[in-house]
Amino acid sequence: MIKGRKVAILGAGNVGATIAYTLAVQEVASEIVLIDLNKKKSEGEAMDIIQGARFIAPLKIYSGDYSDAADSDIVIYTLGIARKPGMTRLDLVNTNVGIFKEVVKDVVHYAPDAIHLVVSNPVDILTYAVVKLSGLPAGRVIGSGTLLDTSRLRAILSEQTGKSYVNIHAYVLAEHGDTSFIPWSMASIFGVKAEEYVGQHCAGLGENWKADVLEGVHKAGAKIIANKGATYYAVSMSVCEICKNILADSNTILSVSNLLTGQYGLNEVCLSLPFSVGAQGVSDCLCAKLTSDEEALLNKSADSLKAVCKEIKF
Ligand SMILES: NC(=O)c1ccc[n+]([C@@H]2O[C@H](COP(=O)([O-])OP(=O)(O)OC[C@H]3O[C@@H](n4cnc5c(N)ncnc54)[C@H](O)[C@@H]3O)[C@@H](O)[C@H]2O)c1
Repeated sequence: MIKGRKVAILGAGNVGATIAYTLAVQEVASEIVLIDLNKKKSEGEAMDIIQGARFIAPLKIYSGDYSDAADSDIVIYTLGIARKPGMTRLDLVNTNVGIFKEVVKDVVHYAPDAIHLVVSNPVDILTYAVVKLSGLPAGRVIGSGTLLDTSRLRAILSEQTGKSYVNIHAYVLAEHGDTSFIPWSMASIFGVKAEEYVGQHCAGLGENWKADVLEGVHKAGAKIIANKGATYYAVSMSVCEICKNILADSNTILSVSNLLTGQYGLNEVCLSLPFSVGAQGVSDCLCAKLTSDEEALLNKSADSLKAVCKEIKF
C-alpha cells in the first residue's frame, strides 16, 4: 500500500460515488473509504469500483464508518440533499447545515490532520460551517467553489472561439451560485485579452456576449439537473483536480472557496478567489488587481453569502 493517499468520502450518492470512481481511474488515491447513512449504497459503490481493480493502480476501497476516516489525507463532504429541478443551491441550506452539525465534530475527531474538502451545496456556506464547527485552521477547510464554474466557462469560451481550453485563461470567482462573476480583466487567450480576441475574431457573438457567457455559466447546473436529474461528472473531475494538487503539494492557484481574512477588505465569509492549493490546503491568495466594477461584484457576492450565514447558529 502506498502511504499518504487516503481519501474519505462522506456521502456515496451521485457525487460521492463519481468522485470515488474518478479518483480511482485517475489513480489519485491509494485508499478510499465511502461513508453513507445508506450503508448498502456505499457498499455497492465500493464493490462496483473494486471489481475493476484489475485495470487500475493498486487501490483499497471499502464502505466504512466515521472511525474509518482516521489517517485520511483528505476528507470530502458530499453528503446531504441535492437540488431538484427549479431549486437554487441556497434552498438547501437549512437541511444541509443541520446534517453538517451532526457529523463534522465526529469526522474531525477521527481525521484531525486531514484537509477537509467541501462539495455539498451551498458549498460556500457549508465551507464556512465546517470552519466554524471544526475549529480547524481555515486553510485546511476548502470548498470546491468555482473551480467547476471556471471549467464550465472555459468550455463555453472554447466552443465560441474554436480554441483549446488549454489556451483559455479565464476564471469565475466568488459564490458558487447566482452571484458569481467573471473578472474579464483577467481573461485572455494565450495572452491576448479575451475581449479583444472576441472583438476581432468572433464578432458574430454580438453585443451581449459577456452577459450571455455569464448566464451560460450560471444556468449550466440547473440545465443539467432539468435534463438528467443531477450533476456529477464535471464536479467530480474538478474535485479530483483539487485532490491531485493537495496530494502533490503543488501550490497550484485554483479558484476554490476558503475563509477570507482581509483579501479585498473582506472577512468572515467563504468564497472563491485565486487561492494557492497544496499539502497544507490553502496557503495564500493571489489578490490580482480587479477593476472597481469587479470589486463591486465581489462585494455584492460576499454580502449575499454573509446575509445567509448571519441567520445560522453554529
Ligand atoms: N459543489 C458543486 O459544484 C456541486 C455539484 C453537484 C452537486 N453538489 C452537491 O453535492 C451534494 C450531493 O449531491 P448528490 O447528487 O450526490 O446527492 P445524492 O442524494 O445522490 O447523495 C447524497 C448522499 O448523502 C447521504 N447522506 C445524507 N445524509 C447523510 C448523513 N447524515 N450521513 C451520511 N450520509 C448522508 C445520502 O444517503 C446520499 O447517499 C448536494 O448537496 C449537491 O447539491 C455540489
